[in-house]
Amino acid sequence: MPKLQSIKGAYDLFGSNLSKFNQVKALFRQYCENYGYHEIETPVFEDLRVFKREGDTSDMVNKEMYVLGNDNKMGLRPEGTAGIIRAYVEHKMYVNEAPYKLFYAEKMYRKERPQKGRQREFNQIGVENLGPKKAIIDAETIALGYYFIKLLGLNDIEVLINTLGDYESRKNYTEALKVYFGHNIECLCDDCKKRLHTNPLRILDCKVDNQNDALQKAPKIDEYLTVEAKNYFKEVLSYLDILEIPYKVEQRLVRGLDYYTDTVFEVVSTNEASGAQSTLFGGGRYDNLVEYFEGPATSGIGFAMGLERLIISMEAEGVISEDAEEIDTYIIDLTNSDPYVLKVASILRNNGFKVELNVYDRKLKAQFKSVARLNAKTVIIIGEDEIKEATVMLKNIETQEQIKVNLDELVDKLEEMVGNDIDE
Ligand code: HAM
Repeated sequence: MPKLQSIKGAYDLFGSNLSKFNQVKALFRQYCENYGYHEIETPVFEDLRVFKREGDTSDMVNKEMYVLGNDNKMGLRPEGTAGIIRAYVEHKMYVNEAPYKLFYAEKMYRKERPQKGRQREFNQIGVENLGPKKAIIDAETIALGYYFIKLLGLNDIEVLINTLGDYESRKNYTEALKVYFGHNIECLCDDCKKRLHTNPLRILDCKVDNQNDALQKAPKIDEYLTVEAKNYFKEVLSYLDILEIPYKVEQRLVRGLDYYTDTVFEVVSTNEASGAQSTLFGGGRYDNLVEYFEGPATSGIGFAMGLERLIISMEAEGVISEDAEEIDTYIIDLTNSDPYVLKVASILRNNGFKVELNVYDRKLKAQFKSVARLNAKTVIIIGEDEIKEATVMLKNIETQEQIKVNLDELVDKLEEMVGNDIDE
């Protein structure tokens, strides 16, 4: 049997690393609930058509999806939004009062070239706010993401924002880009030559042509916005000003997915140690997805953050700590696995205490090492005498106080020592 390893781009999470992921996820759950969001989980695989929608030109859908099944009709989700909108329509969530607000913390799959901050299996935390199209909701959604990042302690960040305008604005802009890039076709990579005919907006997002002079000098969207689209974007920005969220309008920001309309945004880490994959989160408004899935005309806005990237940045900025393990008591067994030891442990665990004990018949020295490693607040020592008397020896590690306690008083005594009231 060859030595097997996890597949490139996928990795195991355990120990302190997993604990960091769990800390951020727990905080995100709590924070989203403050904003009135409810959690949703959707399947890891879906009908391919959920993601690969008619006319979609994005790399994520066309190049990076894991396609499954004998007939290639299913796919692993590369992102959360499409599956959530499918579920929103399927379960008629739209009959609820708008806006309907959902958050998620799930694994996603993209066939990308792995590097630091870019995996093939990765974790996203994100939100979707479904309901009317209102500038104040755009600002509220950006605020949720921005303040959450600040709550994590990240300071080296920049908010980039742009608008793709309404249908008419995008139509005019797309035409202008076609003409412009049509004259500069020799500067484009092979993929962008195709994009010129399918979706010229995608050229602006090209990872190959990124620094290309022709791209830098391409027409900017603001010259093609309708008055309504311009005013809508101005209103979004004015809310951000009121919320004191600093931002930079980045006219070339179009995002890598096809469903966006009007406001799009990204938050990037400016800390050098975060590496090349510096986009911590991205999102935007989408006017047409719900209708595409045959739901009633409903707009939506959301974002997703890459958990791996958040943690890389938190480590770079030194704002994440390892969860120190701590237990209420460690039972030192001097009896060689008498059932009484297990009985004491069970009584305490059933009363809500974190208890560890030696069940491996280890030497006393090794047991004391565990007391220190597990950060035990107290130690319970059980020998032959304690078994005969139905007692235990209870020792407070901090004060070194040591008392003999009857088994039927142990829960109360331990509670006094560690202050662990499970009825609180
Ligand atoms: P996205 O920009 O494709 O948007 O991904 C959002 C975030 O997921 C990125 O900013 C990045 O932090 C993380 N991410 C993406 N790909 C990878 C990868 N291969 N490895 C590690 N992290 C990655 C979306 O997914 C949209 N669904 C966001 C959204 C929600 N828009 C509206 N609602």
